[in-house]
Amino acid sequence: MRNIQGDWPKVTFGKARELSVAELHAIADGFAAGAKRAVEAGADGVEVHGANGYLLWQFITPKINLRTDEFGGSPENNVRFAKLIGEKIRAAIGPDKLLILRLSQDGVDDFTGAWPGGTAYAEAVGAALRESAYDALHWASFDYLDNRFPADPTPMPTVLKRASGKPVITNGGIAEGADAEAALTSGAADMVALGRPLFAHPDWPYIVRSGAAYPWLPFDRKYVIQPPLDFGHAYPMGLVDPKWPQP
Ligand SMILES: Cc1cc2nc3c(=O)[nH]c(=O)nc-3n(C[C@H](O)[C@H](O)[C@H](O)COP(=O)(O)O)c2cc1C
Repeated sequence: MRNIQGDWPKVTFGKARELSVAELHAIADGFAAGAKRAVEAGADGVEVHGANGYLLWQFITPKINLRTDEFGGSPENNVRFAKLIGEKIRAAIGPDKLLILRLSQDGVDDFTGAWPGGTAYAEAVGAALRESAYDALHWASFDYLDNRFPADPTPMPTVLKRASGKPVITNGGIAEGADAEAALTSGAADMVALGRPLFAHPDWPYIVRSGAAYPWLPFDRKYVIQPPLDFGHAYPMGLVDPKWPQP
């Protein structure tokens, strides 16, 4: 039963059970069928959600994955389900479509989740994904610099990029163009992705590309915009010329 508690809703569910290997294959087939539908509908590729508390995250996160078969118990085993899904999707969509895997330490209501061993675990996850069907990895966090492992403050996306040899999309805490530039030049990213700043400033890429000074509006980074919601702030049409040149 859903049980929502607190200001930032905490949702509790019944105790999970272990999926059979046959069920894992059936779920992976479902991912592949969904990906095929997406490319048939015109998508250039798909991103598999292995982050933020969802099913694949539960396999990749050691404190949740208590399995003792080949799908749990080591970083290599913990990513095996994600790799299986990647292989099935690749077979379904062919070699030319983009296939990305999103990863995070955070769960859906577990914002301080840390991989045990921090950097070493990220390195092992990255290395295990080196031989996989994924074209790129996507690191999600509220602050991409935050690896929560005091012994080695190397940003997690930097570690994953190094260990996997894959291009990395980095997300979390990038607010202005200079932040994106820093992520790209630091070795933490090949591309950046934005969440909250885009809600407040849908023209963010155009604003940044223009190089013009811009009156960035303050907004609560957790809830996007400080309540009460003011959609005038969410899309400040009065402040800018919305007719940005098309790329
Ligand atoms: C209100 C809110 C809802 C979110 N919902 C999702 C979601 O459904 N799926 C998801 O993958 N990430 C979700 N995220 C996380 C964002 O994708 C992103 O990782 C996070 O906001 C950090 O990026 P940012 O600093 O650019 O906002 C959500 C974030 C916020 C603030």
